[in-house]
Amino acid sequence: MNSEEIIELNHKFVIDTYGKQRSLALVRGNGSRVQDADGKTYLDFLSGLAVNGLGHCHPKVVEAITNQAKTLIHVSNLYYNEPQVKLAERLVKHSFAAKCFFCNSGAEANEAAIKLARKWGHTSGNGPGIITLRNSFHGRTIATITATGQEKFQRNFHPLLESFKYASLNDLKSIEEALDEGTCGVLLELIQAEGGVNVATREFAQGLRKLCAERNLLLILDEVQTGMGRTGRLFAYEHYDIEPDIVTLAKSLGGGVPIGAMLAGPKVADVFQPGDHASTFGGNPLASAAALAAIEVITSAGFLENARELSRYLFERLRKVADKHAFIKEVRGAGMLIGIEFSSAVKKVVGDCADRGLIVGTAGENVLRLLPPLTTTRSEIDEALGIIEAALEGFTDESAQT
Ligand SMILES: Cc1ncc(COP(=O)(O)O)c(C=O)c1O
Repeated sequence: MNSEEIIELNHKFVIDTYGKQRSLALVRGNGSRVQDADGKTYLDFLSGLAVNGLGHCHPKVVEAITNQAKTLIHVSNLYYNEPQVKLAERLVKHSFAAKCFFCNSGAEANEAAIKLARKWGHTSGNGPGIITLRNSFHGRTIATITATGQEKFQRNFHPLLESFKYASLNDLKSIEEALDEGTCGVLLELIQAEGGVNVATREFAQGLRKLCAERNLLLILDEVQTGMGRTGRLFAYEHYDIEPDIVTLAKSLGGGVPIGAMLAGPKVADVFQPGDHASTFGGNPLASAAALAAIEVITSAGFLENARELSRYLFERLRKVADKHAFIKEVRGAGMLIGIEFSSAVKKVVGDCADRGLIVGTAGENVLRLLPPLTTTRSEIDEALGIIEAALEGFTDESAQT
C-alpha cells in the first residue's frame, strides 16, 4: 500500500483520537531512520515518542523477540515465567526498588502506583490523597487524567477521581500548602516532558524528598518518559541524588514492545497482596524478553556515557543555534530529552523539518521537542542540526501562524 491508501483506510476505520503530524505512513525502520510507504527516508529524532530509545529494530531486541516468539509468547500471571522474573531482578539490581509489578503502558503503571499509594495510605493511617503538579502528564485513563494537572486533558470527562490536589513544579511551598492529614503521597515527573520539558531543580527535588520523609509521604516518580536512559542516566532521579518510594516506567522499557512497570521500594514493596491488582498481559514472556534485551544494552559498559557525551554536543550546538534567533527563548532538558522553547507556535517548524527529512515533535504549543535515540551518532546529530537550521531560515513569529 502507498501512503495515500494507508491514510484513506485510517480515516475510514480508525477512531481518530490523534492529531497526526503530517501525513506520514511509516512502514520500516532501522536505527535512527524510518521510511514511509512511498520510499522517503527520515531521520527520526522523536523515537516513537521516546519509545525507541535504542532506535528502530535494535538487533538485540529483534533477536530476543524472535527467539521468545518461537518458544513461548504468553502464559498469564497465574503461572511463573522466566523472562519476567529475570527482568524484575535486573530492574531491582539497577535501582532503589525491592520489587516490581508489570503492566503494559505508562497510564497503567501510574494506575498501579496510585492504587498502591492509596492502599498504603489507608493502612498507614494517612489517607488516599495524592498531590500532583500542574503541567504534568500521567496518561489518559480516568485516574491518570485526574493526576494530570492540565485541564485540557480533563475537559469532557468529569467527574474525575476524588482526593487529588495540584501544586507547582519547583515550588515546595505550594506542595506544603496542598498537604493535609489525608495525603499519602506526591506524584511527579522530574522533567515534565509533555508539559513543555520543564526541569525540576535539584533544590526542589531534594527538598521534596526531605518533606516526604518528614511527613511520612510516598515520593512517587513518573519516569515513563525519563526512564531507561532517556536523560543520560538509567533513571532521572539519579541526577538528583534522591531515592523515591515508587517509580513508574513504560515507553523505552521494552525496546519498542509495549510493557510498563511499577518499581516499589522497601517501604511499599509488600503492600499489594494477591487479588489487589492485576493485568492479563503484564510482563508476559514476549514483552519481558524484549525489555530484558533492551536493559542489557542500556546498562552495558560505556553505553550511557556515550549517550551523555552526544547529548552535551547536541545541547552545545542547539544553544549556538538559539543564540542566532531571538524567537528561541530557551534550550532545556537532559540527555536525549530536549525542549527548545520558541516565542511562538512550533507546528510550522515541525512540518518544515519533516519536509526536509527530519522527524521532531512538540511539547505544548511553543516547545519543539527532540527525543533522539540514545544510539544516535555525531554525524546524525550534525545532519539533524543542518535540517533544523534550514527550517529556521526565514522563520518569524508571524510566519509561525502560516
Ligand atoms: C510522563 C508520562 N507518563 C505517562 C504517560 C502515559 O503513557 P502511555 O501513553 O503509555 O499510557 C506518558 C505518555 O506520554 C508520559 O510521558
